[in-house]
Amino acid sequence: MLKLGIIGCGTMGKAHAASAKDSSYVRVTAVCDVFPEAAKSLAEQMNAAAYTDVQTMLDKEELDAVIIATPDGLHAEPFIACCKAKKAIMLEKPFATDPEDGKRMIAAMKENGNLVQMAHLFRFLPFYINMKNAAESGELGELISSSGTSIDRIFVPTKMLKWAGKTSPSWFLLSHLIDAILWIFAEKPVKVRATGIKKKLVSMGIDTYDVVKAEVTLASGAVCSFEGNWIYPNSWPIMAGVMMSVTGTEGTISTNTMDPIMQKGTASEYSIPGILEYEIGGYRVGLRRNMLEAFARTILNKTETVAPAEDGYEAMKVLCAIDRSMQEGGREVLLEQD
Ligand SMILES: NC(=O)c1ccc[n+]([C@@H]2O[C@H](COP(=O)([O-])OP(=O)(O)OC[C@H]3O[C@@H](n4cnc5c(N)ncnc54)[C@H](O)[C@@H]3O)[C@@H](O)[C@H]2O)c1
Repeated sequence: MLKLGIIGCGTMGKAHAASAKDSSYVRVTAVCDVFPEAAKSLAEQMNAAAYTDVQTMLDKEELDAVIIATPDGLHAEPFIACCKAKKAIMLEKPFATDPEDGKRMIAAMKENGNLVQMAHLFRFLPFYINMKNAAESGELGELISSSGTSIDRIFVPTKMLKWAGKTSPSWFLLSHLIDAILWIFAEKPVKVRATGIKKKLVSMGIDTYDVVKAEVTLASGAVCSFEGNWIYPNSWPIMAGVMMSVTGTEGTISTNTMDPIMQKGTASEYSIPGILEYEIGGYRVGLRRNMLEAFARTILNKTETVAPAEDGYEAMKVLCAIDRSMQEGGREVLLEQD
């Protein structure tokens, strides 16, 4: 049984902890959050030790692995500390939001030989695994384009995240789509053009983009266009949704989680039951559990992860180029090939 520590006890830290419950592979033995109440509350639920400082947790606990689920711009310091402590790491997306942080993180990981898995959820979802398989089999012909839209209800940047003004729908939402495209096309990105619109969230005192539109050209000339939208109304039936398609010279494959696959209406309420995570005979299965246990098997079997840190770093470079293009009025930004 692997001993797991969780760093960042917010929405995702709690979600990952829930995925670990009764797992045959991992047990959460320590949690850490700079807010003592957040750490204490999750620690009590998991029967784990609570810490408010990452280094103290790493010094005192004998952990095999950690999950880092701190806010978008705050991944670097816990990540580097965990690399130096020789832990296996599952890192929330985006890899980093500052290219210098990204370089330091990759250097620390290489120096210490850590196993790192990105929490790039799409790689563990059947929709995108089917896309990857279709692309790899050649049945779509030569891949030439893709489009993707990812949305959240405005609840997410205004109520759920305290730090929305320090990130954007690009870092928060498009990080998944950009990674999916680089993975499915198995190509390097070469140039980016992007536009962002700031109106609604700024009017509510949150200085970030409402909508980001980006076009990414890959080495073969394939063109991929993306929209990250953070201001869908709170009346929208789903909190979050994604549409994505990949077109090749011989075919197209697409997925749409914007429309509910299940619906429930009672006398008092309309709701959409969750279908991605559930229990069978008391054993938890589904998206996050699959991702966590894939991480655990990679550690135990010493195999390669399906979501490597280097891919997170590549996606980060594209997201940095999107930021630059938006800041420079939609100018084309070329990606450095290193
Ligand atoms: N994979 C996904 O589908 C998915 C979905 C949502 C969010 N995320 C990502 O997960 C990360 C966390 O998001 P969230 O919604 O849980 O945020 P959150 O604000 O709910 O939780 C973050 C927690 O980290 C804590 N924290 C900050 N700095 C810390 C530090 N140095 N040490 C310990 N704790 C620290 C904060 O106090 C907070 O409790 C983000 O990078 C986000 O983009 C991923």
